[in-house]
Amino acid sequence: MTCGLPYANGPCHIAHLRTYVPADIFVRLLRKMGQEVVFVCGSDTHGTPITVKAEEEGITPREVVEKYHKHFMQLFPKIGVYFDNYGSTDDPLNHNRTVEIGRALLERGYIYEKRVKLPYCPSCKRFLPDRYQRGTCPYCSAQARGDECDQGCGRYLEPGELIDPRCAICGSKAEVREASHFFFKLTAFEDFLREFLKKLDGTDNARNYALQWIEKGLKDWNITRNLDWGIKFPWGEGLVFYVWFDAPIGYISSTEEWALKHGGDWEYFWRGPGPIIHFIGADIIYHHCLFWPSMLKGAGYSLPYAVVASGMVKVEGKIFSKSRGYVVWVEEDYLEKGLDPDALRYYIASYTGHTRDLDFSWSTYGEKVNNELVATLGNFIYRTLLFAKRNYGYIVEGGIEPEVRGEVETALRAILEGLDSYEFKKISDAVLSLASFGNRYLQASEPWKLIETDPLKARMKVHNCLWLVKALAVLMEPIMPSKAEELWLQLKGERRRNVPLDEALEPLEVGVKLSEPWPIFMRVKDEVVKELSTVISRRVASAKG
Ligand code: 2FM
Ligand code: ZN
Repeated sequence: MTCGLPYANGPCHIAHLRTYVPADIFVRLLRKMGQEVVFVCGSDTHGTPITVKAEEEGITPREVVEKYHKHFMQLFPKIGVYFDNYGSTDDPLNHNRTVEIGRALLERGYIYEKRVKLPYCPSCKRFLPDRYQRGTCPYCSAQARGDECDQGCGRYLEPGELIDPRCAICGSKAEVREASHFFFKLTAFEDFLREFLKKLDGTDNARNYALQWIEKGLKDWNITRNLDWGIKFPWGEGLVFYVWFDAPIGYISSTEEWALKHGGDWEYFWRGPGPIIHFIGADIIYHHCLFWPSMLKGAGYSLPYAVVASGMVKVEGKIFSKSRGYVVWVEEDYLEKGLDPDALRYYIASYTGHTRDLDFSWSTYGEKVNNELVATLGNFIYRTLLFAKRNYGYIVEGGIEPEVRGEVETALRAILEGLDSYEFKKISDAVLSLASFGNRYLQASEPWKLIETDPLKARMKVHNCLWLVKALAVLMEPIMPSKAEELWLQLKGERRRNVPLDEALEPLEVGVKLSEPWPIFMRVKDEVVKELSTVISRRVASAKG
């Protein structure tokens, strides 16, 4: 299992989590079903995203990369995302693997050299790869950067394709100069790609976009750049590999690093049967469904089993944009405010379908936390535990009623359907529905009356409520792992992790002493929601000013 590698050129934001949180939920669920998973990621450290940032800040690319690599390493666990290995594309393992794959493709005739005309800045005295140039998209006429129509049609752009290119640093009109570059014969893989995409599992958006791009016609892909920073291209002067060549190879080298540390077998996944699943953002489908499988096929590696592409992110109703201020920085705007990591995970899972746009707004956040987590899920759990503690002090005996078992089975089925269809909202909805049922069941059973009139029946009802609480602890873990642990502490006196899914239907352990319960979710006050919203409005205002 892999997640798209974040560029190590800035801190973690909500659009990163749009992919990493569902991926982590997916991995946790697989493990709860007894599957062995290796979950890898790492920092994407090369290319113009890094060098432009270094120039802006007056530091070296290496300094940029070191700073943000450390940031991501420390941040992921704080939001409950645990990778088995978090590597770096600048690691020697990745340099070596990239050259090895380059050599295999060269020897098999899939890489060739060609003279091309490229934009050159006469005042900065250098070629203008990728983000060093801005101009007009040849497909949709929007303003675009050299490698991607970032504000228009979203297409991947080949070097030299932009119309009227200018230098993004000094604004000069670019000249055209000739240079030698190396191309990957993507066009040789057209038939292969059609067949590959037919079989590819994952989300429909990934397959459909990729097929449409094949229909529009593939082009051979320039895989070298005139830059100093990157993985040196051994067969050409003054060239490095294009960042999108060595970035996905980072998935392999991160697995190699994991294997070295843990005595595992990386080839089982990359040259053997281990199914590979990529979680990515929808903006990088082109690279993962066309370039990457062709590289793997051409170099003799295993192919991805699935590509799961998450929809885009909006912030307060506007398209996510760091430069315009529509952004939520995970550390600064969320964790440092003392907000609950699991509530953010829940928001991301439950807001909408995985391939749709997710709008993050603080008012919706407040509503979701207060109505869904506190008033529905937390309320049922707390009321049950409090009643049981006050009246019995331990987990009372009884048996599960068919209706209650049926509800747990329905939730389990929905969760497995969510897993199979890569729909994480189905998983969070199943947890919430089970809690709603619990509230209705508790309300209708009225154990507070039965305890006087029919004490045996009261015990029976409380036993069933406790069973539901235990099922919730099992089922909510992939989405809210810390809260699930906290709940186990209340239920069993110990924190538990990776609790098998089957335990949701196993008999309750009767007689266990209950500790004094506490509510696991806290309301977010209206004033807090208002204050949090002003962080974004201030940022947007100052971006405009
Ligand atoms: O688009 C991005 O943010 C890239 N850093 C993703 C790379 S994914 C993988 F291929 F490395
Ligand atoms: Zn365009």
